[in-house]
Amino acid sequence: MIHDSDFAMSALEGLQASPKWLDSKWLYDTHGSAIFEQITQLPEYYPTRTETGILKDQIDALSAVLEPGQVLVELGSGASVKTRILLDAASGLRAYVPVDISADFLEETAEDLRKAYPDTPIRPVVADFTGEITLPQALDDAPKTAFFPGSTIGNLPHDTASAMLDRLSRWPGIEALILGLDLVKDTATLVDAYDDQAGVTADFNLNLLRRMNREIGADFDLSAFRHEARWNAQLSRIEMHLVSERAQTVTVAGQAIRFAKGESIHTENSRKYTREGFAAIADRGGWEIADFLTDTDQLFAVAVLRPKRA
Ligand code: AVJ
Repeated sequence: MIHDSDFAMSALEGLQASPKWLDSKWLYDTHGSAIFEQITQLPEYYPTRTETGILKDQIDALSAVLEPGQVLVELGSGASVKTRILLDAASGLRAYVPVDISADFLEETAEDLRKAYPDTPIRPVVADFTGEITLPQALDDAPKTAFFPGSTIGNLPHDTASAMLDRLSRWPGIEALILGLDLVKDTATLVDAYDDQAGVTADFNLNLLRRMNREIGADFDLSAFRHEARWNAQLSRIEMHLVSERAQTVTVAGQAIRFAKGESIHTENSRKYTREGFAAIADRGGWEIADFLTDTDQLFAVAVLRPKRA
């Protein structure tokens, strides 16, 4: 029964809470992921192109981290687009281990990578990177560098992000973490990146309602909700919301959900960092900043972290 699927249970938990929320992972179904790909091409959405620029411009510093014999482990690898910049420059890697939750996508990507990098063993692992990751046992004693780009760490709840950093710092053989971080900047630039002129991000957010209608028997009227991007200065994060344009009652998985006019569903957080703020988070998670690579406008950073050795 659709009403007791994981999605239905999770959606009801959030929609029956006050304030209302939905877990942002539900934004990324096949259609949502395709819309996100469009977002990365938008003029307002600077993170993807800026991070890619940093990886390319500072590839010498990064390939010095990826010494021969290293295993490169990517967390949430998707299509491994940014990783190719690293793979192009690294030589003698022991293996590349893309970790992703989507098994089908992972196998497809692995096949492409095997053709492009015949000298690098590609060892995909299906796992949720926020939990325990079991790496191939044969790689237990190998030195490892983890790669976590996209400022995806900023979408995780604080506890989840801290637990992840802590867990990674204890991996056998872990020597470095290369981490993408979106930086705090003027509010207009931040808000525009999440509320673009063409309305692609609005479509991405509203797709959640469409998905609930299709998959868990909801009856959201998409024209009665609007997308909103808010800068929460206190918590240093962009929040995406879906705001109800009027008082209304919606049925979701058999339950009536009441909305007041102006009430919103909080659908995603995207935390923004300062170097100092992140250094404190890293420190608590067992890491120190060895290098902090940025673009000239200081929009985005690629941090190279080293585990603190007790
Ligand atoms: C893919 C999660 C890093 O937070 O910038 C972009 C997601 N949401 N526009 C981000 C997103 C709306 C993106 N992450």
